[in-house]
Amino acid sequence: MKILVIGGGGREHAIAWKLANEGHQIWGAPGNPGMAQVGTVVASTDYLSIAASAGVDLTVVGPEAPLADGVVDQFRAAGRKIVGATRECAKLEASKIYSKEFMQRVGIPTARFLRTEDESAALRALAEFDYPIVVKADGLAAGKGVIIAQDRAEAEAAVRSLGPRLVIEEFLEGEEVSFIVLSDGKHVVALEASQDHKRVGDGDIGPNTGGMGAYCDGRIFTAAQSAHAIDAVIRPAVEATGFTGFLYAGLMMTASGPKTLEFNVRLGDPETQPLMHRMRSNWGEVLLASATPGGLAGVTLDWGKDPSVCVVMAAHGYPGQVRTGDAITGIPLNNGGGAEVFQAGTKVGPRGLETSGGRVLGVTASGADLAAAMRNAYAAVDKIHFAGAHHRRDIGAKGLKRW
Ligand code: AMP
Ligand code: GLY
Repeated sequence: MKILVIGGGGREHAIAWKLANEGHQIWGAPGNPGMAQVGTVVASTDYLSIAASAGVDLTVVGPEAPLADGVVDQFRAAGRKIVGATRECAKLEASKIYSKEFMQRVGIPTARFLRTEDESAALRALAEFDYPIVVKADGLAAGKGVIIAQDRAEAEAAVRSLGPRLVIEEFLEGEEVSFIVLSDGKHVVALEASQDHKRVGDGDIGPNTGGMGAYCDGRIFTAAQSAHAIDAVIRPAVEATGFTGFLYAGLMMTASGPKTLEFNVRLGDPETQPLMHRMRSNWGEVLLASATPGGLAGVTLDWGKDPSVCVVMAAHGYPGQVRTGDAITGIPLNNGGGAEVFQAGTKVGPRGLETSGGRVLGVTASGADLAAAMRNAYAAVDKIHFAGAHHRRDIGAKGLKRW
């Protein structure tokens, strides 16, 4: 097939890499230098024109912005097959207030919350919860719209910096799991559960990021936990909306069962990198099936038995003010062998491959057990250099207790 992958981050490089390995012909838009290694990159966001002129059979959308802009509705109206959420369904991610009220309406377990539209209501709402308390901005905020406040002073500061449209909610304790399914509007197929590492520093210290690394090893969820998450969280959402594409539930595994922290309407980044590294199914066929109503009936996914780990190498300053233009060296030629180096914030500049964004590379490897996968990923990380590079050293460590 000819497949167009929309986006230009590590997630999209990983999707394109997997599909290219299956023999598909890949286009990437707006793409990145990593995607250019496995396909034709068109540095444009006029996706429908690209699909038409290349004669692509299938389009897969990576990031949320084109979904929220209605790219899926636009492609379908033009009679083109596409994997992704409609503009209406993308509201599940684009607005926290909409998403929380939706969960409440259809009975999906989530943290108790109040919505507020102005500062004085928000300050009154703070009194309804214990500390720590969670304050969330309503709109898309690239991982920076949530503050966990330890006391009243911090909570008031959070209300002022994130307001006036807010969700204020109870703090949940437990382990966080990224649970992602692919839906054809009716049937869903679950990907393996994975875990992200959102804080910038080892041991979950420091500010939140878009994700500093992820792993997936088939042990994060038992079959029963996966089935329960589908029944309690996924199926009610899909039935209420006719959801198509990737539905990502950020779950907190609390003492009283899984609770939904958030919905995303796309694959996770960096969760996709280790998922693609382990997937053994014919991904192109599964994606094509999902773009046809009812096409996923009876479809299951195969995974390699080896766990996989993705370590994000970030640019100087990330997640704050990022410096760009630093030369990158040491990426193994044609990636091959053990680790794959998925590119995100990279560009080709006067000095060769250079940094161009916050999360620069997703260095991804598998291994016979989780510790071996971590060693293989870090062995590749240690060969790569750019000025100001930083990464966590503990990606996957919280999974070691399951071995
Ligand atoms: P969200 O964008 O809603 O997923 O929130 C970003 C991060 O904040 C999550 O990945 C959690 O680590 C944390 N978080 C959000 N809501 C809660 C909550 N109610 N209790 C504890 N942690 C939370
Ligand atoms: N890694 C978290 C996300 O993609 O939202």
